[in-house]
Amino acid sequence: MVVAANRTSLQEYLASERMGQGHNSGLGAVIMAIAEGSCQVQQQVRQAALADILGTTGETNVQNEIVQRLDKASSDIFVETLSQSGQVAAIGCEEIEMPVIVQGNTGDGYIVLMDPLDGSSNIDVAVSIGSIFGIWPKKPGETVNDDSLLRPGSEQVAAAYVVYGSSTVLVLATKNNVLGFTLDTESGAYALTHPEIKIPETCLYYSTNEGNNKVLDEPTQKAIALLRNKYSQRYVGSLVADFHRNLLKGGIFAYPADQIRKDGRLRLMYEANPLGFVAEQAGGAASTGYERIMDIVPQQLHQRTPLILGNKDVVEETVAVIRAG
Ligand code: AHG
Ligand code: MN
Ligand code: MN
Repeated sequence: MVVAANRTSLQEYLASERMGQGHNSGLGAVIMAIAEGSCQVQQQVRQAALADILGTTGETNVQNEIVQRLDKASSDIFVETLSQSGQVAAIGCEEIEMPVIVQGNTGDGYIVLMDPLDGSSNIDVAVSIGSIFGIWPKKPGETVNDDSLLRPGSEQVAAAYVVYGSSTVLVLATKNNVLGFTLDTESGAYALTHPEIKIPETCLYYSTNEGNNKVLDEPTQKAIALLRNKYSQRYVGSLVADFHRNLLKGGIFAYPADQIRKDGRLRLMYEANPLGFVAEQAGGAASTGYERIMDIVPQQLHQRTPLILGNKDVVEETVAVIRAG
């Protein structure tokens, strides 16, 4: 049963926005590489134990976190599809300590920062996980080096994430809009299902790890208590899944700094910046609790940041309480 027959495919959408050819064709090729890689990842996600893809590789990554086999597999898949696109000059990846400088792609092209598999702790228990991508334009004529990747989030031209949930949905944000495409697993093509995503006026949910409450400083505990009193708690433990629900239904996600994680737990370049871009294009906001995420000038590829993300008014209220001290 072809369910997507009467829908616009991702490829058709990109072509209609002239991202499939001509002056902006490079961005279309990068987005198609993300889509292609996500189709391969989702096949492994759905196969899981049957494909012998669960469990750990036994290594630890630059984050000093145990690497899940699917972390490594998805990193390899996206590095391959992005490199093959011919439009990517460099890749920064959570699972790879140093930037991947893609040889031969000397044209203008793009720099992609990615979290290839977000929510690793949920892989083995069949809970929604995702992939996150931030896309920056290479500076004209620049010979990319490691520092080329350290760009503020405000210089992104697009961002995307894929949530491997009860359906596989790719959300794409450009400077003009935010759209959602659902994977038709029979054809392997993404079909446009969410033509214009805007975060709803009303915030319904708050997402935070309440187990950390005891190590939050007092102003942050007060801010979280206000959220607890007003909204329903939803916390999957996969940032992409928590964010996607909050984006579509209205909600706020908070992973603040605490006494153990003084810089926060989430990574600026390939979690906070891309989702901050999506949030802002959809009418939301993303803050560290003290400043706009996308204003941060990065110092390191894998640096962490506190993250308060979702409905703009609720983010602002939460930030005001944290900053009031
Ligand atoms: P990753 O799997 O890429 O390391 O990301 C996991 C992150 C994020 O997805 C989620 O919001 C957060 O870790 C959950 O952290 P806690 O388990 O500390 O709540
Ligand atoms: Mn992650
Ligand atoms: Mn990850």
